[in-house]
Amino acid sequence: MSDGGTARASAFERGAARKAAEELGHLSGFGNEHSSEAVPGALPEGRNSPQRAPLGLYAEQLSGTAFTEPRAHNRRSWLYRIRPSAAHPAFTRTGNGAIRSAPFQQTVPDPNRLRWSPLPAPAGGTDFLAGLWTLGGNGDVTQRSGMAVHLYHANASMDRVFSDADGELLIVPEEGGLVLRTEFGLLHVEPGHIALIPRGVRFRVELLDDMARGYVCENYGAAFRLPELGPIGANGLANARDFRAPVAAYEDVEGPVEVVNKFCGNLWSATYDHSPLDVVAWHGNLVPYAYDLRRFNVMGTISYDHPDPSVFTVLTAPSDTPGLAGVDFVVFAPRWLVGEDTFRPPYFHRNVMSEYMGLIEGAYDAKAEGFVPGGGSLHNMMSAHGPDRETFERASAAELRPQKIDDGLAFMFETRWPVFLTPQAARAEQLQPRYDDVWQGLERHFRPM
Ligand SMILES: [Fe+2]
Repeated sequence: MSDGGTARASAFERGAARKAAEELGHLSGFGNEHSSEAVPGALPEGRNSPQRAPLGLYAEQLSGTAFTEPRAHNRRSWLYRIRPSAAHPAFTRTGNGAIRSAPFQQTVPDPNRLRWSPLPAPAGGTDFLAGLWTLGGNGDVTQRSGMAVHLYHANASMDRVFSDADGELLIVPEEGGLVLRTEFGLLHVEPGHIALIPRGVRFRVELLDDMARGYVCENYGAAFRLPELGPIGANGLANARDFRAPVAAYEDVEGPVEVVNKFCGNLWSATYDHSPLDVVAWHGNLVPYAYDLRRFNVMGTISYDHPDPSVFTVLTAPSDTPGLAGVDFVVFAPRWLVGEDTFRPPYFHRNVMSEYMGLIEGAYDAKAEGFVPGGGSLHNMMSAHGPDRETFERASAAELRPQKIDDGLAFMFETRWPVFLTPQAARAEQLQPRYDDVWQGLERHFRPM
């Protein structure tokens, strides 16, 4: 536990933290029933809530789904902790910073294709929570539907603890390693990895580098799960065993700890007299995860055309309509292109789904320039998009040898509803004024017979 010094951690301390993070053990598998104890004997045997839990711990259930949801989708864990979560004083409103929540109704919905450059660096002492900046989203937090797109930019570790009652947080680091110190234990992620923090789970973000920057999808709806594989078979895309869940690790700390809770769009703060990251043992299937996107098993054509990008889905958050996601998380990972007589970059298209794209590193094969790591683009419902002029000309003339795409890692949050902008995103200096120009000059080639 920090003594207040994590925000000012020295490079030496961060080096030690990185080494410790690299040595973390983990549990393997997505959606599994895991169990873990930081102290032998802390988990009760044969029941969840004995009359007296082992080692004087309190037993507590955390439910991520309604008690009665089907077994295949039911998510809950039992936590054995030094104090029950109920032991806290009243929360009071605190500033929301640059965090905004659905419904997003402060700007006129914009049919234009939009693209942003990265945001400027924040002031010194900005932690993950203070550095969260909402671009937009859809749905309604009070209805547990929809999603928000946030960017984060931090240069200090959190001393405080955060939890989000409004949704699950999918964190996509683009710069800087992170240790996520959660109720369930520690997760280490680097750029190219993702972390998934379930709704309501308390955590702290500690930086392993001078600066940390990336993207967050706040999923208000049903939790992310692995997509169905259909005819692909029993393996492929993101393999379940590559997801890392933490092993139990706890803080036994008395003294003031600020805990910030996001509830129905606002931040609320309370000062606990102990750390709430005091879970000594746990078992269940509602857990945070980390995943290395480079482990994604990419599927594609070995004949002609290329499949729809749904084949790049890492995680999907379903809606009430089968096959229609509240939000999909999609990765464009290194892969071979071998299609014969095929236009190989992503095709021109218009989509009923809305697409926010970000870039973790390198370049994206449909855009020659202007789409840079830390920036992003938004192609809302039915907006026409596709390769830029330069990419189209090059790909139309290219000799079709097998080609390795290995210089970039892009991703997409694809959502069923349009993404409505926050005023700060609509007015940002980083909003590129001439994005439409990338599709100007696409020449007329029509030659009637
Ligand atoms: Fe698209």
